[in-house]
Amino acid sequence: MATKRVMLVAGNWKMNGLAAEGHALAQAVAAGAEGVGCELLVCPPAVLLSTAGAALSGSGVALGGQDCHPEESGAHTGDLSAEMLADAGSRFVIVGHSERRADHGESDALVRAKALAAHRAGLTTVICVGETEVERDAGRADAVVAGQIKGSLPEKATAADTVIAYEPVWAIGTGRTPTPDEVQAMHRHMRAIVSGSHGAEIARQIRLLYGGSVKPGNASELMALEDVDGALVGGASLVAADFLAIAGCCA
Ligand code: 13P
Repeated sequence: MATKRVMLVAGNWKMNGLAAEGHALAQAVAAGAEGVGCELLVCPPAVLLSTAGAALSGSGVALGGQDCHPEESGAHTGDLSAEMLADAGSRFVIVGHSERRADHGESDALVRAKALAAHRAGLTTVICVGETEVERDAGRADAVVAGQIKGSLPEKATAADTVIAYEPVWAIGTGRTPTPDEVQAMHRHMRAIVSGSHGAEIARQIRLLYGGSVKPGNASELMALEDVDGALVGGASLVAADFLAIAGCCA
């Protein structure tokens, strides 16, 4: 029967931090993680996985990558495979972040291939979706997100190996967020889409994170929403106290 969805707060450090800062940030997160009522995940730049992983060791805070290549190995200069991320201590990987969709032209099909590769390597994927401001203003947000979910989730994705993050592109790094009602409505819509594609049971269990300008000041009202199961945090994850304060809003 019903297993309750465990909230997940994930920090996406993006392309920020050198070794000393990354180590100190991970250490501070580890030090404050005890007693937090949700799962915590830190996704540093790939070159900091080992230093952050060492600092997080034994804390229960999971480590994740920010992207992976769909293939296991080969002639792909500059890329990293999911197996490499797992070997470096990752349990999760973000795929399909809007910055990768925009900066690197990643399509839904490529995101799905990356997610499949991650699952093959035993990683849990955080698959990102979200509309642009133009799409929202045109009344197309629901359709865009539905299309991204249908196109990016592997057919055999489960609630155990997949998390979906709703990150409206216009809310990322801007200090703007949708209203709580808009976030709840979108997350409910997302669950309905997953129910249609993967069945009601997976839809009920899959975790849906909200991302886009989550801060300590707005986390309580966002994390209290019925269909929000945690947060994917960018800027505020670079300050341990802020990241932990957001986590503290998730029981
Ligand atoms: P901000 O929290 O900085 O808006 O970034 C959100 C994000 O893109 C996380 O992946």
